[in-house]
Amino acid sequence: MEKRKVIIDCDPGIDDSLAILLAVNSPELEVLGITVCSGNVPAKLGAKNALKALQMCSSLHIPVYIGEEEPLKRKLVTAQDTHGEDGVGEKFYEEIKTPSIKDGGVDFIINILKNHDKVSIIALGPLTNIAKAIMKDKEAFNNLDEIISMGGAYRIHGNCSPVAEFNYWVDPHSADYVYKNLSTKIHMVGLDVTRKIVLTPNIIEFINRLDERMAKYITEITRFYIDFHWEQEGIIGCVINDPLAVAYFIDRSICKGFESYVEVVEDGIAMGQSIVDSVGFYKNKTNAVVLTEVEEKRFMYMFLKRVFKGYENVIDSVEGVI
Ligand code: BDR
Ligand code: CA
Repeated sequence: MEKRKVIIDCDPGIDDSLAILLAVNSPELEVLGITVCSGNVPAKLGAKNALKALQMCSSLHIPVYIGEEEPLKRKLVTAQDTHGEDGVGEKFYEEIKTPSIKDGGVDFIINILKNHDKVSIIALGPLTNIAKAIMKDKEAFNNLDEIISMGGAYRIHGNCSPVAEFNYWVDPHSADYVYKNLSTKIHMVGLDVTRKIVLTPNIIEFINRLDERMAKYITEITRFYIDFHWEQEGIIGCVINDPLAVAYFIDRSICKGFESYVEVVEDGIAMGQSIVDSVGFYKNKTNAVVLTEVEEKRFMYMFLKRVFKGYENVIDSVEGVI
């Protein structure tokens, strides 16, 4: 099987960390590098968290690059209330010193696109690095195979305002720029589908009976997130948005949606809202695939079976957990 080459652009982040675990444990993918922008936490901190996730799957050979540290025009607003001061549930893991984190995330994206035939981007944070890379070298993006963006909300309320999802709200200018300047359609894996992906206490209890080391890490980083979900939304468990974007990239049948023209509101009361012109009012060419349906159980089986390799049979046979 030919592996698909991908760059993971992210802001780890609890669910970004889980997405890295899934990507690195997926035989269909060759992760060429991880680029980090500011979002859930400042980029420098996010990059450290990316290393931790890579260490968890013995993949520290994958390079981690820091990209943009501020949104295009807005001042950075992080989500440390949701993800913890350290971005991964306030466990304050010891810093991994080798390999070192590199600077120049935007140039890395451009160089990889220029030097490989078919590379895709799975973007799990604000679109700042991608916007900056397009601004710097639009031609490089002729080599882009596909781009998936976890972000936006179509027919569901936002998580930062009644209408705005976090990634597009943090840097609405970059998000809008990317939608308007790429010739490749963006697969918008928004809250309509990701909110259905809930890591429940049952699942956490279950994984602790599988691989102890991996389960401990997932349990630790999600604890704070679970408390946040209970306090804010009355949900038992936590919504893990980002790994769905990875799963969808690997297996298109996990989500369904439709093609549409999308743009993002840059300021005002609706700042960060993804405007999905599903009826075609604007008569603009479609620039996105907007996902609206998801087979959440299939996602969860896929996630668990890959991250807990070797336990596939137990995962398949357990009842009443997933
Ligand atoms: C998105 O915002 C972040 O907090 C998560 O990591 C995810 O990418 C969900 O709105
Ligand atoms: Ca994220």
